[in-house]
Amino acid sequence: MSGNQNIARVLDGTAVAADIREALRARIVSFGAKHGRTPTLGILLAGDDPGSALYVKNKMRTSDDLGMTTILERLPESASFEEALSIVERFNRDASVDGILVQSPLPQGMGADAEQKIFEAIDAEKDVDGFHPLNVGRLVQARAPLAACTPSGVIELLDRSDIDIKGRQAVVIGRSDIVGKPMALLLLHRHATVTVCHSRTKDLAEVVSQADIVVAAIGRAAFVKGEFIKPGATVIDVGTNALTVRSDVEAIFGAESKKLSAFDKRGQVWCGDVHPEVACIAGALTPVPGGVGPLTIAMLMSNTVTAAEVRYS
Ligand code: GUN
Repeated sequence: MSGNQNIARVLDGTAVAADIREALRARIVSFGAKHGRTPTLGILLAGDDPGSALYVKNKMRTSDDLGMTTILERLPESASFEEALSIVERFNRDASVDGILVQSPLPQGMGADAEQKIFEAIDAEKDVDGFHPLNVGRLVQARAPLAACTPSGVIELLDRSDIDIKGRQAVVIGRSDIVGKPMALLLLHRHATVTVCHSRTKDLAEVVSQADIVVAAIGRAAFVKGEFIKPGATVIDVGTNALTVRSDVEAIFGAESKKLSAFDKRGQVWCGDVHPEVACIAGALTPVPGGVGPLTIAMLMSNTVTAAEVRYS
């Protein structure tokens, strides 16, 4: 890596997220003036996943900073599906709760289909993640008031970075309900020609190399290599993979890298789904951390304010 020149423009998700949050402040103040309370998000965090706990903490901190309210309900790893369901039903009934977020993943003990069943139990009007089948259906029809936060954040980032979507070849790597599928739909609605790749795709590198816009959301550290990328393409890295083995960090980032020094201090570093060598080939690239992550949270806040406003309209 060390001899290579990074040419990709860095797409600063942190800065764009700050702009989105600032634009929300006036709407939050106006909602408060009309209704005598602040937009309120009910959060269910079940289990011991350290990543989930960190995401929820960041979501609550951002909400506080914007003068919104969060109500956190926690359940242990051993909790049953019924316990989770009863919390969602309570949030549904509570007139002061505008948005509901059930942090994914749920504990495995709740069963393989627990997540889909819980998302379906959320009042669709309060579904700030956009995961309820009604909102997913509306998204297919390009009329969803609440769409999944990470893909919505990616579209905001492209728009606010003046990157054209219309008519472009876009390749989404990953087909999850949370990122890949809604991402493909949002890009399609913005008139991109969209291909979705996944673990069974043949000649994945060849398919990705056709793309003007690549969204990597497969959850595998440094999976997308330089040779996958058309020179000048825009690459959006949705991955946040924790590297906990020193030799992995060295193999990906190099012996002289800042990441390896950071690893030596902390014993862990974050790595996206995109290999760092892509910075020498792409035209624009999101960093990890500081790319898509802050946008997801900003869009969650935006969806919560929208849900609050729509309930009274
Ligand atoms: N886990 C990872 N990303 C998300 C998200 O956007 N929403 C929820 N609820 N859980 C997640």
